[in-house]
Amino acid sequence: MHNATATLKYQLKSLEKIPVKIWDDPKAGSLHLARSIALAIRQKQQDGEKIVLGLATGSSPIQVYAELVRLHKEEGLSFRNVVSFNLDEYYPMQPEAQQSYVHFMKEYLFDHVDIDPKNIHIPDGAVPMDDVEAYCERYEKMIDDHGGIDIQLLGIGRTGHIGFNEPGSWEDSKTRLVRLDGITRRDAVKDFNREEEVPYRAITMGIGSIMKARSIYLMAWGSHKAQILNEAVEGPITPSVPATFLQKHPNVKVYADIAACEELTRIKTPWLVGMCNWNEDLVCKAVVWLSLKTGKPILKLTDEDYSENQLSDLTIEYDDAYNINIRIFNRLQHTITGWPGGKPNADDSHRPERAKPAKKRVIIFSPHPDDDVISMGGTFLRLVEQGHDVHVAYQTSGNIAVHDHDAMRFMEFVQEYAAATGIANDTLSTVYQKVMDSLAQKQTKENDIDEVRKIKGFIRRGEARAGARFCGLPDDHIHFLDMPFYETGRTRKKPIGEDDVRIIMELMEKVKPHQIYAAGDLADPHGTHRVCLDAIFGAFRQLQERAWMKDCWLWLYRGAWHEWSVDEIEMAVPISPKQLERKRKAIFMHQSQKDKPPFPGSDDREFWQRAEQRNRETARLYRSLGLAEYEAMEAFRRWKF
Ligand code: F6R
Repeated sequence: MHNATATLKYQLKSLEKIPVKIWDDPKAGSLHLARSIALAIRQKQQDGEKIVLGLATGSSPIQVYAELVRLHKEEGLSFRNVVSFNLDEYYPMQPEAQQSYVHFMKEYLFDHVDIDPKNIHIPDGAVPMDDVEAYCERYEKMIDDHGGIDIQLLGIGRTGHIGFNEPGSWEDSKTRLVRLDGITRRDAVKDFNREEEVPYRAITMGIGSIMKARSIYLMAWGSHKAQILNEAVEGPITPSVPATFLQKHPNVKVYADIAACEELTRIKTPWLVGMCNWNEDLVCKAVVWLSLKTGKPILKLTDEDYSENQLSDLTIEYDDAYNINIRIFNRLQHTITGWPGGKPNADDSHRPERAKPAKKRVIIFSPHPDDDVISMGGTFLRLVEQGHDVHVAYQTSGNIAVHDHDAMRFMEFVQEYAAATGIANDTLSTVYQKVMDSLAQKQTKENDIDEVRKIKGFIRRGEARAGARFCGLPDDHIHFLDMPFYETGRTRKKPIGEDDVRIIMELMEKVKPHQIYAAGDLADPHGTHRVCLDAIFGAFRQLQERAWMKDCWLWLYRGAWHEWSVDEIEMAVPISPKQLERKRKAIFMHQSQKDKPPFPGSDDREFWQRAEQRNRETARLYRSLGLAEYEAMEAFRRWKF
């Protein structure tokens, strides 16, 4: 089965045992994949044949489905000859439930194309337990009876699962009932409100069923997939990482964005797999790697360190280690500044920011109401203290991440205050009753009614205002944008729309900033941060002709997930112990997010703990490279269009 020659050729450039096509962003890869599928559908149509597609759910294929829908609506692509088999379904699960994969497939694909409903197959999560085994056998047989799957789409879970074949799945497993891994269940919480609601089991096609497909595309978007993707394509074949079985398939391709490929050897340490085209950024990456690997500060690295670690190319190009060391040391040294808005009256030729104008207009965009203080609270405080004209803009209401009991508490407060002061009226009482009834009767899986969402949004507004005021902003510099894409009342959001971009543009036009700070989670393919960033990129594109735009610099901070790697950092702002304490206080203003907010993700630490550990870690890394020792540091990268 194994296509040894193809793999061998590929290995000359990398350690990957599956061909990986790297895309700049998930959209580019998804469009290409959708078009390949469309081509195959049309080809079969021409031959008067049916095509059998194996389909996946989850965030990975969403943009592929969106493009297929567009091709159907705008370019006449018909799905009449398509037969589909979905990989899996939670168990137990009613097909009409919002969390079911039936619902997912209808929402993203089937309701918008002309596929014959008879041709759609999705494992039935409502089959009685006694029948499950026989049902799974029938599902498997149905695939075979249709001649097997022509094209199989896959995502990869953080456990390395494909379908719901969790670690321990055997190579020739067939469609069956399985138990979900703890990590998979935690990742699914975003669709279920509470962890207890996530089913413990699922029906899934087996590894053997997947391997029978004639061609397979595995998608991986975002840096949260980087580690497991590396194991899947470079690691040994093992049931502990079920996706590694794909290495045995003769016709499988990985489509991944650059963020998901960060851990592949040819991206992370390309000098280990072949000749490099050295540029300043790559040299910096190599030197930082070498310093951390050898445990030596940069200025102590020797020619031997370079040659023993496959970096002798560099010492030849730069004459000797000393020249490279000093060059990269200086580069990193120049990223450090206590003056994020630029240092007035100073020579700025080696500083990250311009000295002029001394007083800059600044907008800090915060996707959720607390990202500003969590991710750049220290820099926020400094910018205000150093006299810049700082605005903060909260891009979304953040209303889904507030507990029901908090909404109840605030509604009761309003009602009791109004009653006690004699200003209660019928309208208020009606709203009060409606909110209290709805919260009391709410099933865990239901969306909040509009009134409750409003209250939750106001709770977060109040907290954001308190945080921004704590950082020294006047109220007219605090903006709530309530971007519409976010307002679905559930974790799944709408795609970005023109209104979202327009709102950002209007604020930029009004402030005409010299500096913009934004959450640069390029790695987060579909989440709120990515959409918020796309809206800012969209605004930059549309405003590019404005005269003030030539002075507008965009600095990206990283959101809750992870920090820039040291070689990527272009501005590192030190934080003293006292400033770190103040930053913590600003984060504490977000009371609804304290302890354990709804949807905390897989990280048990509170936000202030994550922020402090991350900022301390950046300082520790700088120190171990031989630079100055600070308590903590916030890091930024400049985005140049
Ligand atoms: C979905 C499925 C899963 C997902 C995987 C990745 O039908 O079988 O294997 O593909 O969990 O999920 P996302 O794409 O949400 O990261």
